[in-house]
Amino acid sequence: MSHSNPPSPKRFTGSAPLTGRVRVPGDKSISHRSIMLGALAVGETRVTGLLEGEDVLATAAAMRAMGASVNRSEDGTWSVHGVGVGSLLQPQKALDMGNSGTSTRLLMGLVASHPISAMFTGDASLSKRPMGRVIDPLSQMGATFEASPGGTLPLMLRGISPAVPITYRLPVASAQVKSAVLLAGLNTAGITTLIEPVPTRDHSERMLRGFGAQLEVGEDNGERVIRIHGEADLKPQDIVVPGDPSSAAFFAVAALLVPGSDLVIENVGLNPTRAALFDVLRDMGGQIEELDRREVGGEPVADLRVRHSDLIGVEVDPAVVPAMVDEFPVLFVAAALAQGTTTTSGLDELRVKESDRLTAMANALTLAGARVEEREDGLVFEGTGGDPLPGTPEGAEVTTHLDHRIAMAMAVAGLASRDGVAVDDTAPIATSFPTFEALLASARGA
Ligand code: S3P
Repeated sequence: MSHSNPPSPKRFTGSAPLTGRVRVPGDKSISHRSIMLGALAVGETRVTGLLEGEDVLATAAAMRAMGASVNRSEDGTWSVHGVGVGSLLQPQKALDMGNSGTSTRLLMGLVASHPISAMFTGDASLSKRPMGRVIDPLSQMGATFEASPGGTLPLMLRGISPAVPITYRLPVASAQVKSAVLLAGLNTAGITTLIEPVPTRDHSERMLRGFGAQLEVGEDNGERVIRIHGEADLKPQDIVVPGDPSSAAFFAVAALLVPGSDLVIENVGLNPTRAALFDVLRDMGGQIEELDRREVGGEPVADLRVRHSDLIGVEVDPAVVPAMVDEFPVLFVAAALAQGTTTTSGLDELRVKESDRLTAMANALTLAGARVEEREDGLVFEGTGGDPLPGTPEGAEVTTHLDHRIAMAMAVAGLASRDGVAVDDTAPIATSFPTFEALLASARGA
């Protein structure tokens, strides 16, 4: 799982419009949680539409190592037989988290309130990412940690049972930190309380309730307050995973930028804590129409019809950042081709994702001929006004730093370029969107 895959360089070039219909794979956040919660429910949880990317497979392997049975049947349905809250087994080997921050941080929460210990390891990208943000609250609950310098992986976690219920105010807007504490709270007697000054994706809350945990969400002084009652008994569920808006984002921007495009992206999850990109793109003049709005697996979903549009620059309100935190790399590509100035700010968290996404995207788009200014907490663009980007110079390629979203965003930039964009490594795309290149080829009639 740790990126032993050899680098796979590729040049993405322009021309053919995106047309017809594509269906993006299942939501990554919901897929991780389906397996984790299924593994804690006694009985069989069935999951359809699970994202079969490397990150989610790392979660599945870890839950197997802690006693659950997690299997895929031939029709693509996944079946999880759980062990029950409080009954996770001691893993016999290190848990290899590959590239996946979500697996790591959420599983740290699960292990923290069980009487087991686990060693967490990951690839070069994950091993640089800060884990102090989960070590702090989980230590307050009684777990102990031996981390690598700077609070990074490899890391040994010794869980404790009974753990101590805490009240924790999130110092960073992070659904991963929130979820780690909620999952630790599941096996902690009493009530664990989270205070969330800035709301983040709420899949954990929705799904914990769906599995039968007692969880209340209220408001105090304009802040969200989430209370989970411990020693929960989870009931197995049938889950249908909606399509991932973060994957749909690449196709939406590609269709907006490539002349002649008219594409329907089916089954896109539009949970309000995730969907801000589509609003920002509409503010920029993007023609994005919602067709057949409905509910799938307790989440709002629609098909999105996206047509080539002339985009104009905007100032992106930092208040929307948590609801599109993973979508900035591809928004930057749209900004690079819009008419006029696009300003983004409040993006400090982008520096601690799979790569430093501000520097990585500023460098990559500059190499492709965009006009970008990097600031401490955001990027500012002078767009081309719809003209294609020149593309990467002969012999040069953009560096993706083991970051799937940099690779996919720059692939989209390549479609909207004159000479194409060479990407040093597309292998990381398999962490979240293994069918990306095949779907792109089908939308372009290849
Ligand atoms: C995720 C939360 C976000 C996001 C990540 C998935 C989740 O991370 O970037 O891709 O499933 O909870 P942060 O909580 O670090 O913002």
